[in-house]
Amino acid sequence: MKKLSYGRQWINDDDIAEVVRILRGDWLTMGPTVEAFEKRLAEYVGMKHAITYSSGTSALHGAMNAAGLHDGDYAITTAMTFAATSNSVIYTGATPIFADIDPCTLCLDVTKAESLAREYAGKIKAIVPVSFAGYPLDMKAYRKIANENNAVLIEDASHALGHDRKEFADMMTLSFHPVKHITTGEGGAVLTNDDTYAEKLKHFRNHGMYEKQMHELGYNYRLSEIHCALGLSQLKRVDAFIARRRELAALYLSQLSGVENIKLPPSDKNHVWHIFALQVESNLRDELAEYLREHDINPTTHYKPVPLMPYYRERFGFKSGDFSEAEKYYEQEISLPLYPLMEDSDVKRVTECIKEFMINL
Ligand SMILES: Cc1ncc(COP(=O)(O)O)c(C=O)c1O
Repeated sequence: MKKLSYGRQWINDDDIAEVVRILRGDWLTMGPTVEAFEKRLAEYVGMKHAITYSSGTSALHGAMNAAGLHDGDYAITTAMTFAATSNSVIYTGATPIFADIDPCTLCLDVTKAESLAREYAGKIKAIVPVSFAGYPLDMKAYRKIANENNAVLIEDASHALGHDRKEFADMMTLSFHPVKHITTGEGGAVLTNDDTYAEKLKHFRNHGMYEKQMHELGYNYRLSEIHCALGLSQLKRVDAFIARRRELAALYLSQLSGVENIKLPPSDKNHVWHIFALQVESNLRDELAEYLREHDINPTTHYKPVPLMPYYRERFGFKSGDFSEAEKYYEQEISLPLYPLMEDSDVKRVTECIKEFMINL
């Protein structure tokens, strides 16, 4: 039986031909394809600049550096994200502080973020919301907190390429890991409308070098021509990828509606469905995952709250119970297979399997 994983890339012959064209050409890095990909990406998102990075993680590091974070600064983010969001704050010497999630949106709780901002008044340098699973963020609310605190608004949009955006963060970061909306293998980008941030971002990914000298400490965080050729080719199909994700998610929602012991994810017409994250009565989650695996369906879980990871517990003293909503959510969460190459019949196979499991309890 066809194995279904929770996510995977869709590479076609055009993608392969574009990568081969680069391999046969003169430039493997720092050439015209990087620029072409950045230009097209900025147009697609609707922001002035896109600066590619070697990963979503290094893109976040670049954004935190451009925002001027260092020792003694704090950045507010959500407890339920991938570790890279807050790790990138620590790379600069600053300290991440975490607010719990809003159980309706599964994203950074605005009221809790506001109260953290009051507690750390004068020390907050960045507000870093994350769209969880591709659910659209209330950017106006986060903008208000950022403005009141004179902080930079940085959206970790690793799950959220393709949102129809009216409000933009000061910087927005993307990841092009294979399970994301488009892939470059590994890769990432920072988007901004601000010329000064754009300059800083370009220097930081290239050793802090410009005008033939090194002016500040930077890194080699460049994305190669090979990666960007794949990205440029993938970007041609991004709308089709997202449309297919939406169809598959709608099918999951209709097939699973009314099934006992589960809660469906929040939905919205602007949702871009990076993952399909179902909540299952907590005592059943692991058993259901095992049952699915026995049927060649490989789900995963998102996210163990970052502050409860051993490194964060040891370094900052966080403990179980500090983020009750995120903890409760994580114990119940199961990410079902969702990627544009899936057939409708694949979704039906997964949902039938879930129904079978629930009936046989
Ligand atoms: C929310 C979030 N932030 C950051 C990252 C890091 O991206 P990358 O794996 O490209 O470094 C990811 C990737 O999984 C992510 O999901």
